[in-house]
Amino acid sequence: MIETNRLILRPMTQDDLEDFYDIFKSEQVGRFVHRMSHEAAERYFEKKKKSEPNPYSFAVVLKENNKMIGTCGVKLNKDNNCGELSYVFNADYWNKGYCTEACKAVVKYCFIEGGMHRIEADCFEDNYASTKILQEKLLMNYEGSIKNYAFNEATQKITAFKFFGITKEEYLKKCI
Ligand SMILES: CC(C)(COP(=O)(O)OP(=O)(O)OC[C@H]1O[C@@H](n2cnc3c(N)ncnc32)[C@H](O)[C@@H]1OP(=O)(O)O)[C@@H](O)C(=O)NCCC(=O)NCCS
Repeated sequence: MIETNRLILRPMTQDDLEDFYDIFKSEQVGRFVHRMSHEAAERYFEKKKKSEPNPYSFAVVLKENNKMIGTCGVKLNKDNNCGELSYVFNADYWNKGYCTEACKAVVKYCFIEGGMHRIEADCFEDNYASTKILQEKLLMNYEGSIKNYAFNEATQKITAFKFFGITKEEYLKKCI
């Protein structure tokens, strides 16, 4: 478990299903990640129960009301000890700094406790909130874009992706 000023980051449990669905049913969220029906959310939880738990994947819970308002996690590639950061937050709670607060804590945890060498992330090129978080809040380096990288279901367009990353050395210099 990780505690920040306003948030608790803990493993997701079956009790989080409705809050999880609240996040993923949203049209606004669906602009940048796959939307989910209730059935798809249920299937996701079933699959998760059977898979090996990821120690770097967190449900983000607001202290003030105990609601899970987002997910934030890093998928470790054990071959190179690098992690891929991803996150999604309930649109009713956007632009209050919650994603930034959670990501800073998770990145720190992965570098300091997890001993990862590098953390990377990517997003659709027109995902301006995510770009700001990665570049301006987490101080990741913009490492380039790939054109026509992924199909965006919401816009029905093949769209470019932007790539970001930071090494542990850079993190220790810039962020601590
Ligand atoms: C990306 C996302 C997680 C951000 O969550 P959040 O809690 O609103 O993030 P924060 O409040 O910490 O930071 C967002 C920043 O982007 C800024 N921002 C938001 N929309 C913006 C836009 N259209 N253009 C420029 N900046 C924008 C906010 O003002 C804020 O910066 P500030 O704190 O300096 O004002 C949320 O928008 C989301 O869930 N999006 C859908 C899922 C997604 O895109 N996940 C990432 C996939 S790679």
